[in-house]
Amino acid sequence: MKLSNTQAENSFKYGWLLSRVWPYIKPYLFRIFLGFMIAIPLGLLDGVTAFALKPYMDYVIGGKSLDFTLFHHEFSISSLQMSFILPIGVVLFAGFQGVLRYLNSYISTWTSQRITNDIKIDLFHRLVHMHPQFFDENTSGVIIQRYMSDPGTASAGIVDQIKTITTSVFGALGLIAVMLYSSWQLAVIGVVVLCVAFVPVALIRKRIKAASNKNMVISGNITTNINETYSGNKVMAAYQLCDRQEKDFTKQTWDSFNVNMSLTKRSAWMSPLMYLIASFGIATVLGYGTYLINSGMMTAGSFASFVTSLLLLYKPVKTLGNTLTSIQNLFVALGRVFELFDLKSEIVDKKDAIELKSFNNNIRFENVNFEYIPEHPVLKNLNLTVPKNQTLAIVGNSGGGKSTLVNLLPRFYDIQSGSIKIDDIDIRDLKLDSLRKNISMVFQDNFLYSGTIRENIMMGNPNATEEELRKAIESAHLEEMVADLPNGLDTYIGERGTTLSGGQRQRVAIARAMLRNAPIVILDEATSALDNESEAIVQKAMDNLMINRTVFIIAHRLSTIKNADRIAVINEGELVELGTHEELMQIQDGHYRTLYEMQFKKQESQMMTAI
Ligand SMILES: Nc1ncnc2c1ncn2[C@@H]1O[C@H](COP(=O)(O)OP(=O)(O)OP(=O)(O)O)[C@@H](O)[C@H]1O
Ligand SMILES: [Mg+2]
Repeated sequence: MKLSNTQAENSFKYGWLLSRVWPYIKPYLFRIFLGFMIAIPLGLLDGVTAFALKPYMDYVIGGKSLDFTLFHHEFSISSLQMSFILPIGVVLFAGFQGVLRYLNSYISTWTSQRITNDIKIDLFHRLVHMHPQFFDENTSGVIIQRYMSDPGTASAGIVDQIKTITTSVFGALGLIAVMLYSSWQLAVIGVVVLCVAFVPVALIRKRIKAASNKNMVISGNITTNINETYSGNKVMAAYQLCDRQEKDFTKQTWDSFNVNMSLTKRSAWMSPLMYLIASFGIATVLGYGTYLINSGMMTAGSFASFVTSLLLLYKPVKTLGNTLTSIQNLFVALGRVFELFDLKSEIVDKKDAIELKSFNNNIRFENVNFEYIPEHPVLKNLNLTVPKNQTLAIVGNSGGGKSTLVNLLPRFYDIQSGSIKIDDIDIRDLKLDSLRKNISMVFQDNFLYSGTIRENIMMGNPNATEEELRKAIESAHLEEMVADLPNGLDTYIGERGTTLSGGQRQRVAIARAMLRNAPIVILDEATSALDNESEAIVQKAMDNLMINRTVFIIAHRLSTIKNADRIAVINEGELVELGTHEELMQIQDGHYRTLYEMQFKKQESQMMTAI
C-alpha cells in the first residue's frame, strides 16, 4: 500500500475521525476539562480590564465618589481612594491572570504531549510489524513524516484548539458583555461590523488547504533527500552527485518558498482588509458614541470601556477565524494518522496458527509462483525439496530470483500460488514468530544497528550466555578483530556499521546468526569481491555456521558450491537444474556447466595456483 504524501481519503469525515481519536483523549479527559475550566476565566479577564476603565474614567478622572450599600452598610469610596485601588487592582489582576495562564499552558502541553506519545507508540508498534513490501513501496521521507510528524500535529492540535477556542469564545463573550453593559446600541454596531470583517477568512480557506497539501509533499521529498544524502554519501562522493543532490534540495526548498509566497500573496490582503472594515465600525462607533455622550445617554467612562472592549475583541475573534484553518489542518493530520491505523500487515498469523516446535524432516517448495508486481512473475512453478541437515547451494543469473526464493521461507513475502512446507505444514499455517525463530539469516548486504558490536551480535539471541557469545565470535573468526579494537566488544560501530569493513560486517552478521542457533540457515553470499584473505576468513566463518544445519546458500564461490549436497540453478525465475556438482557437470551445454566454464573455472585455476 503506497501512502500518499497529502491528505488521506477520510480527512473530512469529521465524526468518524473524532470517534477514532476519542480513545486517545478519554484517559486525559479530566485534565482536558481542567484546562477548559481554567481557559474560561482566562478568556473573561480581558473583559474585566476593559470594564475597569469605566470606574477609572467616571470616578477618578470625573472626581466623583462611589457610594454603595453592601450588607446594609453604606460605603463610600472617594475619588482619591479609587485612584489607588484601581492600579493595585490591575496589578493583582495581571498576577492572577499570569498564574492561570501558566497552569493552562502546563496542563495543555502535558495532555497534548501524552496523547502524542500514546499515538506515536501505537503507530510505531504497527510500523515495526508491517510487511517488507510496505517498506519497498514507501520512501523514508513519507514514513518519517507520517509516523512521526503527523501524530504531533494531530494531537497537539486537538488540545491547543480546545484551549484556544475556549479562551477566545469566553474572551469574546466577556468583552461583548462589557460592551452591552456600556451601550447596547453601540454593541450591536460593533459586533455586526466585526462579523462582516471576518467574511474574507472563510473565503480563502480552500487556498490554504491546497497550499498545505503541496507543502506536505515537498517536506516529504526533502526528508527523503536528506536521508538519501546520508545513506548514499559514498555513492554521492564517488559519482560527484553532490551537485545533483544540491540541485534537488535547492529546487525543493524553492518550491516550498514559492508555495508559501503564493499563499501569502493571495491571503495577506485579508488582514489589512479586515482592519479596514473594522475601522469603519470604529468610526461609526466614535461618531455615534459622541452623540450618545453629548446627549447624556452614556458616561465618558462607559464609552472608554466600550471602545477598549471593541479593540480587544479583535484578537479573540481573529483567533477564532484562524482556528477554522487550524482545525482544517488538524483534521487532515488526523485523517493521515488514522489511515495508518487501518493499515494491516499483509503477513500475519492465521487465527488457528500452530507453533513450529521442531524441524525434523524436510522443507518443500511445491509449484511455487511469486511476483512482487502483478503480472511480472519472478518465480515460476518452482518445485524443490531440501532434507534436514542438507546444504542446498543456489546459483543462477543475477536478478533471476535467488534472493527472492530464500526470502519466501521466513515469509517476508507470501507466494501467489503453490505452497512452501516445513515437515508437511504450510508455512502460512505456522505462527510467524515460531517460523522465524527457526531460521538464521545472513543477508546479501547486512544491516548493523548503531550501537556496540556486542549489542549487534546479541540481537541473534538476547538470552545468550557470555560463553555462547564467545563461541559465536570464535566461530565467526572475529576474535582477532575484536581484540584489536579499543573497547573490544563494546566498541561503538557507526550507524549501519559504517566503521567496519565489508568482510567484518559480514562476520558480525554471521556471529549474530550463529548465536541464534536455529536449525535452518539462510546465507545470501555477498557478491561484492572481498580480498582473498578476508574471503577465506568469511568462508571459514560460514562453514562453521553451516555445520549440522539445513542450509540454503546463495553461493558465488566454487568451494561453497562444490561442498553443498545439491546445487539448484535458478534461471529467470525457473529451477532449470538440480543435482550435485558432478551430476550437473555431466549435462552437455547445461546451465551449470556453462556457468562453471564462464565463472568458476577461473576461480579454480586461481586457487590451484595459490596452492
Ligand atoms: N522488493 C522488490 N520489489 C519488486 N521487485 C523486486 C524486489 N526485489 C527484487 N525484485 C525483482 O525480482 C527479481 C529477482 O530479484 P532477486 O533479488 O531475487 O535476484 P537475485 O537472483 O538474488 O539476483 P542477484 O544475484 O543479483 O542478487 C529481479 O527482477 C528484481 O528486480
Ligand atoms: Mg540476490
